[in-house]
Amino acid sequence: MSSYAITGASKGIGLEFVRQLAVDTSNTVLAIVRNPKAAEISQLASKYPNVHVVKGDVTDPKSILEAASTAATITGGKLDVFIHNSNASDSTTAALNPSQIPFDSEAVRAIFEPSFSTAIYGGLWATNAFIPLIEKGSQKKIVHISTAMGDTDFINKTGVSYAVAYSVAKAGMNIQVAKYAAELAPKGIKVLALSPGWVNTWEGEKPAEVVQGEEYMLKQFQVVDPELKGQILPEESVRKCLEVIGRLDEKRSGLLLSHHGDRERWT
Ligand SMILES: NC(=O)c1ccc[n+]([C@@H]2O[C@H](COP(=O)([O-])OP(=O)(O)OC[C@H]3O[C@@H](n4cnc5c(N)ncnc54)[C@H](OP(=O)(O)O)[C@@H]3O)[C@@H](O)[C@H]2O)c1
Repeated sequence: MSSYAITGASKGIGLEFVRQLAVDTSNTVLAIVRNPKAAEISQLASKYPNVHVVKGDVTDPKSILEAASTAATITGGKLDVFIHNSNASDSTTAALNPSQIPFDSEAVRAIFEPSFSTAIYGGLWATNAFIPLIEKGSQKKIVHISTAMGDTDFINKTGVSYAVAYSVAKAGMNIQVAKYAAELAPKGIKVLALSPGWVNTWEGEKPAEVVQGEEYMLKQFQVVDPELKGQILPEESVRKCLEVIGRLDEKRSGLLLSHHGDRERWT
């Protein structure tokens, strides 16, 4: 009998967390979404009575506080596992290398804002809103879904120079996770940055430039994993992430780990 809250649960990896956790009907699963009427999450909630769709936007402090308050009324004020999964990034400038970032303060803010507001500010507001519930839960686990793109060893080995704002924001997320782990250890709360692997969450047919970009990325990722054939599916990613979350203890708190539970196999 465990309770979970997942932000950004409308699609992709967030939706898959809800789907897999819902199958165990003794779980209480809180799917935090910006639009509670979104088709897939509504269908899941109508199929599984243990799924509760809660409106909440991590980039809006008032909204995420209200989501935590709604969550508390559903769970009796406690929560076992909080998963901050929401993410946004400016895809139009993702291909830029750092030296191509323009000398234009407004343009630079626009490039960094989506990533910073979801990973950094959103990570803080969402976590702070749910800490009171986690303190009363029995597992006491907080997980931020991060990426190897924000890990310096991975960047140095693969030579991935683009996706600057996304990677910088996720690196900041990893630091925030370490800070939370240091602060919350005396309360028995474990905090983890978790990379889900390279996952196909694209909806519909991929445009040619996306396919091309992924082929380029594959070659770079094969430097660290020569056996890699391509992206994994959300099912495999989330199944492995849940195993890592299940094993999260004081020793691993504060780390960035892959969906394999280590710091070597990122894909
Ligand atoms: N896919 C990969 O290969 C991969 C690799 C490494 C790391 N990750 C990480 O895994 C997580 C999930 O990835 P994904 O591929 O499933 O992403 P996705 O399909 O783009 O879904 C992201 C979720 O974030 C929420 N979101 C989007 N824009 C937002 C905004 N402006 N403000 C607040 N919330 C917003 C959306 O949920 P709502 O609209 O319901 O709020 C959406 O469901 C992300 O943190 C991502 O960085 C993914």
